[in-house]
Amino acid sequence: MTGEHGVNEKKITGQTAIVTGSSSGIGAGIARELGAAGANVVVNYAGNRDGANEVVHQIIEGGGSAIAVKADVSREEDVASMFREAIDTYGTVDILVSNAGVQKDAAFLDMTLDQWNRVIGINLTGAFLCAREAAREFLRRGLVPERSSALGKIIFISSVHEIIPWAGHVNYAASKGGVMLFMKSIAQELGPQKIRVNSIAPGAIKTPINRPAWETPEAEANLLNLIPYNRVGEPVDIARAAVWLASDASDYVHGTSLLVDGGMALYPGFASGG
Ligand code: BGC
Repeated sequence: MTGEHGVNEKKITGQTAIVTGSSSGIGAGIARELGAAGANVVVNYAGNRDGANEVVHQIIEGGGSAIAVKADVSREEDVASMFREAIDTYGTVDILVSNAGVQKDAAFLDMTLDQWNRVIGINLTGAFLCAREAAREFLRRGLVPERSSALGKIIFISSVHEIIPWAGHVNYAASKGGVMLFMKSIAQELGPQKIRVNSIAPGAIKTPINRPAWETPEAEANLLNLIPYNRVGEPVDIARAAVWLASDASDYVHGTSLLVDGGMALYPGFASGG
């Protein structure tokens, strides 16, 4: 079905999505939502096999198709074999959601090179390796107009910390700032080939990565001071945005970073200060 401006209203049915780091948290939410929207989903994990299997199970129970694939996104050979397995199973890849991310927090003066390298390796180098592999596959396969107006879609899950500095987490903020200009630069480079590239920049979402920030009522109240919309986000808040960015409903959205943060990036301190 084709609507106004030739937008393919079939959305993402029958397309194949790789979601990195989808054994828990935001990635798991995105995998489930893409599966429910009719995509075949590759549920990638690095260590949490049980979590990945559970997400696969939930997608299949909902009538979708999914497989779990182990890969450390910071390793080139792991990323290549994850794409091979996806292509062997489903024929191609149409959507990459580059979500895998970690925090290794430390005061700057105490931060070890290992903490720095792990975070840059997974959050930034992982995004590079997966996006490069995805773009190569999109170009190999070519356009399938009845499936999507785009050759393929790449969505990075970044963070409000691509713009908000974060003391005590400088490796993480540096990785997300890097993802922002990496995303925009490849959007500029790949747009002419009809590869659509965007990011979602989540604020505070209830997941294992930030459990201490929301698990007690006191911590949550503190966190809410930073969120004008006055609730902590849930993975599904990000997942719905990801489904939209993966579908032709957003066909003219390219090279943008969509804040999904309840207003966290609005400098809430200025509501009463300044
Ligand atoms: C971090 C979370 C944090 C949130 C808002 C995310 O990118 O991973 O730990 O709660 O940003 O500060």
